[in-house]
Amino acid sequence: MLEKREFYINGQWVAPSVPNDFEVIDPSTEEPCAVISLGGEADTNAAVAAARAALPGWMKMPVAERIGYVAKLLDVYVARAEDLAQAISAEMGAPIDMARSQQFGAGAFHLKNFIRAAEAFEFEGPLSERDQNTQIIHEAVGVAALITPWNWPMNQITLKVGAAAVAGCTMVLKPSEQSPLNAMVFAEMMDEAGFPDGVFNLVNGDGPGVGSQLSAHPDVDMVSFTGSTQAGRLISINAADTIKRVHLELGGKGANLIFADADEKAVKRGVLHMMNNTGQSCNAPSRMLVQRPIYDQAVETAREVAEKVTVGSAHDEGRHIGPVVNEVQWTKIQDLIQKGIDEGATLVTGGTGRPDGLNKGYFVKPTVFADVTNDMTIAREEIFGPVLSILPFDTEEEAIGIANDTPYGLTNYVQSTDNDRRRRLARQLRSGMVEMNGESRGAGAPFGGMKQSGNGREGGAWGIEDFLEVKAVSGWAAE
Ligand code: NAI
Ligand code: MG
Repeated sequence: MLEKREFYINGQWVAPSVPNDFEVIDPSTEEPCAVISLGGEADTNAAVAAARAALPGWMKMPVAERIGYVAKLLDVYVARAEDLAQAISAEMGAPIDMARSQQFGAGAFHLKNFIRAAEAFEFEGPLSERDQNTQIIHEAVGVAALITPWNWPMNQITLKVGAAAVAGCTMVLKPSEQSPLNAMVFAEMMDEAGFPDGVFNLVNGDGPGVGSQLSAHPDVDMVSFTGSTQAGRLISINAADTIKRVHLELGGKGANLIFADADEKAVKRGVLHMMNNTGQSCNAPSRMLVQRPIYDQAVETAREVAEKVTVGSAHDEGRHIGPVVNEVQWTKIQDLIQKGIDEGATLVTGGTGRPDGLNKGYFVKPTVFADVTNDMTIAREEIFGPVLSILPFDTEEEAIGIANDTPYGLTNYVQSTDNDRRRRLARQLRSGMVEMNGESRGAGAPFGGMKQSGNGREGGAWGIEDFLEVKAVSGWAAE
């Protein structure tokens, strides 16, 4: 078995201060694929101290040089694509071809965008054309703790590390203990890219351990977190004593509003988007709201599309979906599917239990519920599995009401060929992102949520800003 017990601190791979083995489980087989260590207080302190010591030099470095390190990182990242894909596939269950394309690709995309955004970013300038005597300086927040989840691991790590690096922050990354192996490959890349010692550090650990220690640490200036709303809440509480800046990218319960005038692929697109990554995406369009005249047809289409989604081992090539990440998630999803049935939703396809022919591994049946009402548990809770809920609506106002009636506000979706309607809806949906007619956001667009979906924005210039302080200096002009 792969032994990966060490942490990356101050430019060295070091043993944990106290041995604390943790097995990484391959969800396709339920067997361990590696052993790592969970860190403790002494490891957290060593990593934070290294980041603190590296901060002055890294902040002082001209931004063009920091961008140069990120450009080198991008080269190394691309060169090690296969190592990343294999690690992600084994530890969190993304099918290998999908890991090679989407999971790996997301990271390369973000690093590229940060390089471009940082080159264009105005780190310093006068307050206004009229007031040249007041200078506005953007400088690094300081030592950043980066706490990341398992579902899109490289997406999350590059969104945080890329932005923090160009901004001039030094870092301690604590990846999810469910998917630490890709993060360790990433640490090797940071080493190979030649980042100065201490700029980037990695300590493995769990939420109650290293996660909480970082959140409360007096020498950590900010926490950037992606994961569950519950962990985000605990991090905020732990960070309150030291008034840390806390940026949170949390869960979602996206509504996908499909109007009678939508293009004919809209329903299929919505179902496939929901099933992608086995439903384990914070921005999944998990509530499909369908206008009454096309409702019955949409339910039938959703059934056909979902029944064509195949499920299989992450180690097999091809376009199937893999298992969910672990037993805890599998059980949670089973319970939620059962709740959907018990609360009276119509089970269109799928249901509880493993798909036929799969006796081992955390596999879930692609599941579609219809006639869901927005007060049912499956419409309120983030399921994080391949489970779609379909709800009918009559009017635009009713659809907006249902869409916004959720504690979350990450991404909503609109499918309509009516331009005026789409623009009206874009302004009324309470979410950080509104995706229309299946078009993806442009490179460098901000990613983040409102309400209990969080409070920061990642990616591009907005992502860099999250890691910057703003300083106003008077008396700047020459005497
Ligand atoms: P989680 O939020 O517990 O884990 C994410 C990261 O936070 C991991 O690195 C974990 O070690 C860390 N963490 C957990 N508790 C912490 C604490 N008190 N202080 C500091 N760090 C802490 O997510 P989990 O348990 O793996 O998944 C549970 C649910 O969370 C999922 O079903 C899904 O609904 C949601 N989730 C949302 C994600 C998103 O992208 N927004 C990603 C992962 C999970
Ligand atoms: Mg695992």
